[in-house]
Amino acid sequence: MWNPFLLIYQILQHAISRILSPTPPPPRAKLSRPRIAIIGAGLTGISSAAHCVGHGFDVTVFEAGGRDELGGIWSRVNKTSGLQIHSLMYRFHPRVQWKGGYPSRQQILDAIEDLYKAYLLEDKTQFHTRIDRVWKDKNGKWILNTEGYGKFDGIIAAIGTCGEPKMPHMPGQETFRGEIHHSSKLDGKDAKGKKVVIIGGGASAVEALEFVTAGQAEKTTILARSDKWIIPRNAIVDMLLAMNIFGQEIYLSWIPEFLLRRFFYRELADLAPSHQGIFTETPMVNSEVFQKIRDGSAEWLRGDIEHFTETGIAFNKRGKNVPKGGPGKSIHVEADMIIMATGYKRPKLDFLPSNCFDEPYDPPNWYLQTFPPPYPSISCINSTYVNAIGTVGSYHIGIYTRILLMFLVDPLTCPQEWLMKRWIDMTRFFKSRSPTPAFDFFTYTELLWWYFFCVAINPFRWKWALFVFFGIGVGMPLSIVHREDRVREFMERNEGSRRKAK
Ligand SMILES: Cc1cc2nc3c(=O)[nH]c(=O)nc-3n(C[C@H](O)[C@H](O)[C@H](O)COP(=O)(O)OP(=O)(O)OC[C@H]3O[C@@H](n4cnc5c(N)ncnc54)[C@H](O)[C@@H]3O)c2cc1C
Ligand SMILES: NC(=O)c1ccc[n+]([C@@H]2O[C@H](COP(=O)([O-])OP(=O)(O)OC[C@H]3O[C@@H](n4cnc5c(N)ncnc54)[C@H](OP(=O)(O)O)[C@@H]3O)[C@@H](O)[C@H]2O)c1
Repeated sequence: MWNPFLLIYQILQHAISRILSPTPPPPRAKLSRPRIAIIGAGLTGISSAAHCVGHGFDVTVFEAGGRDELGGIWSRVNKTSGLQIHSLMYRFHPRVQWKGGYPSRQQILDAIEDLYKAYLLEDKTQFHTRIDRVWKDKNGKWILNTEGYGKFDGIIAAIGTCGEPKMPHMPGQETFRGEIHHSSKLDGKDAKGKKVVIIGGGASAVEALEFVTAGQAEKTTILARSDKWIIPRNAIVDMLLAMNIFGQEIYLSWIPEFLLRRFFYRELADLAPSHQGIFTETPMVNSEVFQKIRDGSAEWLRGDIEHFTETGIAFNKRGKNVPKGGPGKSIHVEADMIIMATGYKRPKLDFLPSNCFDEPYDPPNWYLQTFPPPYPSISCINSTYVNAIGTVGSYHIGIYTRILLMFLVDPLTCPQEWLMKRWIDMTRFFKSRSPTPAFDFFTYTELLWWYFFCVAINPFRWKWALFVFFGIGVGMPLSIVHREDRVREFMERNEGSRRKAK
């Protein structure tokens, strides 16, 4: 059906792609230094690789999985998975053009594949190559695993936050006579007429609920041990929430919390966290879950799993405000199928040099959250965050990539370690009244403020502003850098002779 908003959205995306997509290099083009190593071929790695080569810089992408795992976590989840937030907030490269508001897993994988091919990244990817160790040679170049891959000027670690499925072993699990599956392994599973129990109260639990109700399960029960905020699948509401520039609970936070309870949760307001503000943890984005609870096809229980039985789960059902493991009522929840929506193991950044983890400047407490203070030539894009209101797959991937390129090609813009630490201290100070540690929660608008501050604070970065924010005009700052190089060399020579004279 013809939809004027969709038409405007597509025209807008087309315009953005024309104006802001860096031009893919011609085949066999000789790309220049700096040469960047990119770890991970999920959407973050592929988008940042496309940005680098589009601006004329060479890359090698290292991916632990095979070619069929291009797209990272999206290549490993159910075929029925899809984006919960609006695709407006998931345009992970200017070239991406969505045909609708909520793309499916396959459409997301197709968009990543399109970038991969358009920017000729096929010859630049090492699949089946897990990076275990990176170090600097005596000339300050990075080596990954072995010298055989060559030397690099910078590293983008884009390893994501969702690794292997997490399947905690629960007491009595072996006695259960039905099926047990992880929430990411539901392809081909049949829920028709079954009593399904979903363990976990996160986004995967909600997605599993959609899967089993679409598959006509007889009854679905979600067993959640903690309360999390759920926000509607509405682009305007989600963007408004991401606009809290302070990136923490503020004295006006009660307004969105009140509005959500009153108009979204309504009679189910008991399910909303009572002592935990909305700006403390990543909320789930879903509009159907309450509908399913209201129409009786699903039940949401708060409490702790005691043990599995042959026919289900013995569960300690807790009341609101009773903490995990606190007193409750023992019940038995019947099940034919149990879905463990218990999340994913977090991939480790431990291949980085050990001084990246020195407290109190250990991840996520890094410069702009992604640059470890000892090494401004490393950016761990989308790999350090804990909780946020925003999106993983958006414009910031390009900004982070271009900030790294700026640091690499223009030494006068590259921050010193002590300055990076002072920025971290300053952000901690600004957020000292936040209920969560400063870098454990942020909003997208706060992220934009970090970038603005980063560019504005150093006059040598001003000439890069258009490039950093929009990817426009790398030639102009580069030509100034060549002139600055002469001044810098002159100053270094002077400094050298002064030292000799002493
Ligand atoms: C079902 C599902 C739905 C989601 N929906 C949303 C959503 O609506 N909105 C949202 O913002 N986010 C969503 N997410 C979060 C999702 O993780 C991100 O949106 C995004 O896909 C992450 O991409 P990435 O490239 O950063 O990481 P990944 O896709 O995880 O890719 C990282 C890659 O790095 C590789 N790797 C890891 N370690 C190494 C190593 N040492 N050496 C070499 N390679 C390595 C991995 O094999 C992997 O391929 C969803 C996640 C899931 C599971
Ligand atoms: N379409 C989407 O938007 C979508 C879909 C799926 C996933 N995602 C994203 O993918 C990431 C992972 O989401 P996720 O839902 O898979 O994982 P998650 O957010 O880590 O949630 C896991 C849930 O399982 C519970 N849990 C873990 N171990 C448990 C145990 N031993 N016993 C009982 N409960 C246990 C957790 O409870 P506690 O909170 O108490 O630990 C939590 O409720 C998130 O970033 C999410 O946003 C997005």
